[in-house]
Amino acid sequence: MSTASLKDLRRIESLRKQLHDHDYRYYVMAEPSISDEEYDSLIRELQVLEDRYPDTRTPDSPTQRVGGQPTKTFPTVTHDPPMLSLSNSYSEKDILDFDRRVQSLLGEETPLYAAELKLDGVAVALQYRDGKLFRGATRGDGTSGDDITSNLKTIRSLPLVLHAPPSHLRTIEVRGEVLMLRKDFAALNEQRAAAGEKIFINPRNATAGTLKLQDPRIVAQRRMMLYVYALHAPGATLSSHSENLRLMQSIGLPVSEHVRRCPSIEDAIEFWKHWEQRRDSLPYEIDGVVVKVDAIAHQQRLGAIAKSPRWAIAFKFASRKAETILTEIDLQVGRTGTVTPVAHLQPVFVGGTTVSRATLHNIDYITELDLRVGDSVVVEKGGDVIPKVTAIVREKRPVSARPFRMPARCPVCGSPIGRPAGESNYYCENTECPAQVQGRIEHFAHRGAMDIEGLGTANVEQLVGLGLLKNVADLYSLTHQRARLVGLERWGEKSTQNLLDAIERSKTQPLHRFLFALGIRHVGAGVARILASRFPSMAALQNATSEELQQVGTIGPRIAESIQLFFRERHNRDIVRRLADAGVGLSAGPAPGTLSGKTFVLTGTLAHHTREEATRLIEAKGGTVASNVSKATAYVIVGENAGSKLEKARRMGIPTLTENEFLTMIR
Ligand code: IVH
Repeated sequence: MSTASLKDLRRIESLRKQLHDHDYRYYVMAEPSISDEEYDSLIRELQVLEDRYPDTRTPDSPTQRVGGQPTKTFPTVTHDPPMLSLSNSYSEKDILDFDRRVQSLLGEETPLYAAELKLDGVAVALQYRDGKLFRGATRGDGTSGDDITSNLKTIRSLPLVLHAPPSHLRTIEVRGEVLMLRKDFAALNEQRAAAGEKIFINPRNATAGTLKLQDPRIVAQRRMMLYVYALHAPGATLSSHSENLRLMQSIGLPVSEHVRRCPSIEDAIEFWKHWEQRRDSLPYEIDGVVVKVDAIAHQQRLGAIAKSPRWAIAFKFASRKAETILTEIDLQVGRTGTVTPVAHLQPVFVGGTTVSRATLHNIDYITELDLRVGDSVVVEKGGDVIPKVTAIVREKRPVSARPFRMPARCPVCGSPIGRPAGESNYYCENTECPAQVQGRIEHFAHRGAMDIEGLGTANVEQLVGLGLLKNVADLYSLTHQRARLVGLERWGEKSTQNLLDAIERSKTQPLHRFLFALGIRHVGAGVARILASRFPSMAALQNATSEELQQVGTIGPRIAESIQLFFRERHNRDIVRRLADAGVGLSAGPAPGTLSGKTFVLTGTLAHHTREEATRLIEAKGGTVASNVSKATAYVIVGENAGSKLEKARRMGIPTLTENEFLTMIR
């Protein structure tokens, strides 16, 4: 084994310091200082040096975030002090009672409170020794948990080395919550569904499942994040919880910015109301707020009962879960032929609305839950507002409850349905199935696609039902059916003319929208844009070989194969030809305007425009809108609650615009 020269040792030290600094800026401060490419090149350089001199490798090196070996079991660790839980409250009365109890126990002294978010993730304890991460563990039963250090190290916002800690904060234990962002959760589930794997019920389950994985390399592929909310520092005199949060932040630990010091309990109630209204605007899930007595001296006087402290309380939001009965399972057929089971429920009030249907995803999900018609079930409404059946109440199962079996035939058209190997979904094999036809036409006309106003579900259903529309190409011959349309129920001169005008206008939609509108599997709006930037026309795309397709940006074999499969079908080729004959997609796109050639990315919520409106404004001026920030991005338009795209733009030095700046620009 060779020994590193002093110069190499210095370089290794310097690289580690730089990388820790960048991690901190990027993941904790959200103020990135270098590009991904520069970061990767530093990591690679360090990796090469460590490979050359293996004895210089330390467990806290930035190269070791993914370095752990798979394990069979996790060692057990004991928590000292134990990790307590919180007592729950659900109403203002409960919280006023809590305040009264605290006041009476403290006697003369008046408590000051700190209110923060109750993060809906997985609690962990992290030990730092001499400023370096020593161990990370799950809460377990509160007394002992699993040592999951290798898995926790993959979380990039978790510092492996503290940021210049003063001597009394070098050896500490911090506790906090590991979370998965809602969008990362959705992406993970999408991936798992596509691979025919079991999907996770919510981000918390996904996080818990991930932290339990035995192979840190898989853990590293899932994105998780961390916020810490408790500090134990044996060598320090701590004055208050809010000061602890500040201290933790000052040594590089990620602390949530949503904390409020509350002089009175009413302020805490106000904080709770505020977040109950806005919980869905956060990129992760919360299930309430936590109110803590701020002064450590007060906390010590109040102490704990059983498993929870008397100085803190969880103030939960009204549950978005409810129990009801599954009365029926029926099947919905989507535009790609996917046959999705849908639960019919006895109507129940959950999270502000009455729910009578919920998605059941696929047959594996039903089998996994062992769901039977007649069962009592738990319905949950997550941040995405689509209700889900998440559990059954086994004890309440009636003897008459019957298991669900996938039929052999499509419930809409009666054709055989099949399940491709390795997939969780069943598909109706008849592309002429009315449900698929309906879905394809709706998708084609959708605002994000050809944007044909007046073709919502009801109208499409009517026109398909009457045989006026059999496919999307039929839209462009509707002008010949004018007289018939005018005479139809709910239609008249004016609405017919409006529809025909909208159809006519759609002919000038740019190629990428046309391409997306065709509904080719795996060709979403983003992929369509990439393809359209490389192929000048539909014909060029149709004639491209798989190799040519895969030379374009992020197009891989899966997308390439799907495109080829689409054009190989005679029926699809006929439709595309008929559309071209009608003049669809022949225009070069909108007239070049002030934004010609510029790519924009939108992030956060704009005050005056929806995303679709802003997209149309940009496209009308010759610009394009992309969903991800890249080197090709000219500007990022930033609305409220902007997230990772803003971070990335800053890191890459891409200019950002407020909504008003953008409006000034296009005026
Ligand atoms: S403090 C002794 N603060 O809630 C105080 N807990 O039921 C212990 N949690 O296991 C916890 N957000 O997983 C605290 N801001 C927050 C929290 C929080 C979420 C979780 C944590 C804990 C559970 C307590």
